[in-house]
Amino acid sequence: PADDAVGPAWVRAWDASEGAERATAAFRARFDAEPDGVWSAPGRVNLIGEHTDYNGGLCLPINLLHRTYVAARATSETLSDAVVNLASAQEAAAGLWSARLTEVSPGTVSGWPAYAAGVAWALARAGHAVGGVDAVVDSCVPYGSGLSSSAALECAVAVALDGLFDLGLGADDAGRTQLADACIRAENEIAGAATGGMDQSSSLRAQAGHALLLDCLDGSVRHIPFDLATDGLALLVVDTRAEHQLADGQYAARRTTCDAAAAQLELGTLREIDPGTLEATLARLAPDDAGTQDIETQDVETMRRRVRHVVTEIARVRELVGLLDAGRAREIGPILDASHASLRDDYEVSCLELDLAVEAARAAGALGARMTGGGFGGSAIALVERARVDAVAAAVAAAFAAQGLTPPAFLVAAASAPAA
Ligand code: ADP
Ligand code: GAL
Repeated sequence: PADDAVGPAWVRAWDASEGAERATAAFRARFDAEPDGVWSAPGRVNLIGEHTDYNGGLCLPINLLHRTYVAARATSETLSDAVVNLASAQEAAAGLWSARLTEVSPGTVSGWPAYAAGVAWALARAGHAVGGVDAVVDSCVPYGSGLSSSAALECAVAVALDGLFDLGLGADDAGRTQLADACIRAENEIAGAATGGMDQSSSLRAQAGHALLLDCLDGSVRHIPFDLATDGLALLVVDTRAEHQLADGQYAARRTTCDAAAAQLELGTLREIDPGTLEATLARLAPDDAGTQDIETQDVETMRRRVRHVVTEIARVRELVGLLDAGRAREIGPILDASHASLRDDYEVSCLELDLAVEAARAAGALGARMTGGGFGGSAIALVERARVDAVAAAVAAAFAAQGLTPPAFLVAAASAPAA
């Protein structure tokens, strides 16, 4: 699909040379100098396994072709005199952000620089010898659309610092796991978003042509071949452009509820619940109005629904992987549908726009569809026949127009290369 002024809006992915040229040009304009190099990292879309990562569960993301590019140079080799200078084409109005790296700590950085400077802070905290840096960012990852533009930024900065300061972490999966850990700390502690780690692991550890089966209990991974084109299929991503104020507080509330339920059940994580004993386990939950201010845990039926989602979703990941392993990608649609229903009804993180995207895609012939990412806006995915991609996108766009909603944007996902 190409850019099209009248039909559905497609978000084009830049190729590596376009991304490098853009970031380099922006670096020259900003610093009147050449960067030492350009690094990049992809956004991701999760196939299945939603709101499982912070429950020690399983998830199955793929990286997008859409990437965030960082042109950068080292300006000092030691932490004591390290200054971080950052600019982003996506935050042009904010201009240049500067700080001494030793002054970066939780609570000191607000806005977008937290994601980037936070990675330098986390690597330094982990004992890696990072110094000063000048960096300019440009990106074609849809911004704030549940496709992990924030993780793409963190991971691009992480591989840039790895390259600039010869940290040697990018070479193998063990090192990449350390880079991902630094990105997760940056997001949790400096940007202040209590997310679960799937996004950074995907961007840094997933392989081209593969989905990443991530076990969030021990961080182990398995690379599952994922090439829908061989089956005549495509994964259509609908960026609903819907953004809900609720998102942060509701995400935190779900985490609190899951932790409270695990604590009541005397489990380390909800992962430990055997799906075969789910109903008996749910029956053991009681209203919890003593230990927490969290409203959800005071209603035991709400708590049960949240736990049911997590346990059934982990089972759906296994089921879907089983089909992919058996070369039966065409049959995964009903599992995507079941995941959406569970997120909508049990976990209650969908919204009008996500439900509309999913229903309109199915009505136009999608084999299955679900919301993806944290929810309350963001993106949905639909499994469609390749030949039907444009028709399904047009049908979804028409459904949004009929409701007077902001037009959605579309992209086709294909498992791409990790951060480099
Ligand atoms: P997403 O699902 O895209 O990660 P978030 O709301 O979690 O959505 O993160 C979006 C935020 O990440 C932006 O508001 C901004 O602070 C930061 N960010 C992401 N990409 C960039 C970029 N290219 N330049 C500057 N900031 C970025
Ligand atoms: C995202 C978050 C991930 C994961 C996901 C839901 O917003 O960054 O860590 O929890 O929501 O599956």
